[in-house]
Amino acid sequence: MKEFRNKTDLISYINNLKQNGQSVGFVPTMGALHQGHLALVKESLKNNDQTVVSIFVNPTQFDNPEDLKKYPRTYQADKSILKTLDNNIIIYHPDANNFYDGNIKSDHFNFDGLELEMEGKHRPGHFDGVATVVKKLFETVRPDRAYFGEKDFQQLLIIKKLVKKENLPIEIVAVPIQRESDGLAMSSRNKRLNPLQRLSASYIYHILTQVRYLFEYYDIVSIKKFVYEAMAAHPELKIEYFEIADEKNLKPVTRKKSGNKYRAFIVVYAGDIRLIDNVAL
Ligand code: PAF
Repeated sequence: MKEFRNKTDLISYINNLKQNGQSVGFVPTMGALHQGHLALVKESLKNNDQTVVSIFVNPTQFDNPEDLKKYPRTYQADKSILKTLDNNIIIYHPDANNFYDGNIKSDHFNFDGLELEMEGKHRPGHFDGVATVVKKLFETVRPDRAYFGEKDFQQLLIIKKLVKKENLPIEIVAVPIQRESDGLAMSSRNKRLNPLQRLSASYIYHILTQVRYLFEYYDIVSIKKFVYEAMAAHPELKIEYFEIADEKNLKPVTRKKSGNKYRAFIVVYAGDIRLIDNVAL
């Protein structure tokens, strides 16, 4: 395993790989690795000569300072998990000051409206933070391919847009959501759920599966009513939003049009833990 904390060291290491004609796959993470991350890493290992995994809890993408403080940090465990997958993985684990050259703040981006929907509305500044960190990571790692999970579907589309707008020669590879056996989408935040919250959290996917079925027969307004009512009746969960949106532009819709593809998006709190999920319809 190669580990880098310093940006310039990693840049010269990657220069060397590129001069030797090696392809580079990249998996950006905030650590607290689970099977969802490992699915991304496995994809990268399959299709590239070298794989870089970054582990960096990026302060600029947290709109809530408590969430940032409580975000799980498990660096030693993360390293051991990666080692079991492949001993040649390159880890980039910068500290915030080195990463941001002493100026920890976001740039401002325009993603043609993608950044204004759903998560953009509920987490002000979040996508500016994500785009800032991912752009800087791309500049350092200069991967041929970068891997993102569909759990953060809006993030995935925004990164695709970033690459297009900035003309970056990087292929963005989407990897399906990995789920626990009861359907809960894998997430680093799941580590913070107490046993009752963990049990309750499977209800989110249960509802989304019902939505998938209802979407065949019912109108969107009735489906939304059903979801809000079902969630309101659950004693451990509190819904933040539920939307059915066009898969291309993420604009929430109230009526289906034939030929368009839709997804259902949901955010739910279990205590102070924010859980996000989506399904294709
Ligand atoms: O999806 C995440 O874990 C983060 O948003 C990312 C892409 C690693 C940027 O910090």
